Amino acid sequence: MSNSTMTTTTTTTMGKIIWPPDSVRGMRDLNRDLFRRIVRIPFVVTDINNIDTVGQLLRPYFLKINQFKPIQEYESSSSNEKRKIFLNPDHSELFESLISDLIEHQFLCRLTKTTEEFIGHEEIELKYEHFNHLTIFRSIFDHNNESSDNSNPDFSLSGFSTIGHIIHLNLRENLLPYKKLIGQVLLDKIKGCRLVVNKIDIIDTKYRNFAMETLASDDDPSVTTVVDTTECNVRFRFDFADVYWNPRLSHERTLILKKLNREIDHVYDVFAGVGPFAVTAAKLRKCQCLANDLNPASYRWLKENVQLNKVEHLVRCFNQDGREFIRNQVKEDLIKQIQSFDGKAEDSDQLWKLASENLGHTISSDNIEELHEVRKVAPNKLMYRLSFRIDKNILYGRTFNNDSDD
Ligand SMILES: C[S@@+](CC[C@H](N)C(=O)[O-])C[C@H]1O[C@@H](n2cnc3c(N)ncnc32)[C@H](O)[C@@H]1O
Repeated sequence: MSNSTMTTTTTTTMGKIIWPPDSVRGMRDLNRDLFRRIVRIPFVVTDINNIDTVGQLLRPYFLKINQFKPIQEYESSSSNEKRKIFLNPDHSELFESLISDLIEHQFLCRLTKTTEEFIGHEEIELKYEHFNHLTIFRSIFDHNNESSDNSNPDFSLSGFSTIGHIIHLNLRENLLPYKKLIGQVLLDKIKGCRLVVNKIDIIDTKYRNFAMETLASDDDPSVTTVVDTTECNVRFRFDFADVYWNPRLSHERTLILKKLNREIDHVYDVFAGVGPFAVTAAKLRKCQCLANDLNPASYRWLKENVQLNKVEHLVRCFNQDGREFIRNQVKEDLIKQIQSFDGKAEDSDQLWKLASENLGHTISSDNIEELHEVRKVAPNKLMYRLSFRIDKNILYGRTFNNDSDD
């Protein structure tokens, strides 16, 4: 670390101690060294036997930064019986009275045998590694926010989508000069991220995928836009550059899924993309699906996702214009379903007869409450529930005259 970046600062313009130095404001090319800063961190020492009690009380005030343990061994303890707890200096007003209580109840150790000191201070060098991406962005961008209203979201970077190993941004114009820096910080800070891309324009292409530029990527040349991701425990693989995928629709998909009757409903997905509705309906609800998308790339990945989730027996894939798909495949399948439903209506007479035979008594049509298809137990085997009122004749298994009191 160069001396020029090593300054002992008490506060920053944000008024905080645990914050990057003011010199990072407005940075456009990421210089990680500029985040270095020496700060004085308060700590207390407790006997290991009291660590649970003291730790629980002081936890809200721990120094919580990345790659730093707030509870550490106390070096001067030869028998390893003491622990040092680092506290966040930005909360000092809040923990002072709590510490007085802990001292009074003899939960804290004196720092030296000769003095009555219970709070020590240690100089620690804060670095880029210690800050999360939100702190880094705020410390860089906040001065650019010319609005007096701090809630102005112009320079906030709250929203981004994560799709497998890709982070996808849609940066506002005022952030474009910082795009490489933003990409690099996200790559550094977001676990599992290997590629950061930004949507470059708002042109709505026919297939709803959009052009994107790479902002940052890890050094491995094998990193591509082909991602593996999961939604509701269903696996998906696709090339994010060629198809439509929006993780923010996952809640909507769950709502639709809940409406489906397991093993009974048929799903016709006209604009299926890579299959988030159809493949999930097949995998989790065992529904028969016809899935279609006009984009050849979506169709390719749709088929791959059907295989990946082992639902080939439930999903049939098509690469057609939606109108054509509805006029042909959907119509054909619906007619088939209606015909099989009609067939089942005839079957219901058979079921009624079967039930009567087994009971040894004819169930009169007046007594039938409901004939309900419960579920498919095998591809050609359906389970039904026949509900009927039990009259005396059925109960005694004999044919009585209805007027009899027997
Ligand atoms: C907004 S995306 C939705 C995809 C999918 N339902 C999802 O939630 O991920 C619309 C899809 O419609 C497809 N598409 C566009 N025009 C089409 C057409 N005329 N016929 C069939 N699919 C079409 C696109 O390729 C795209 O995958």
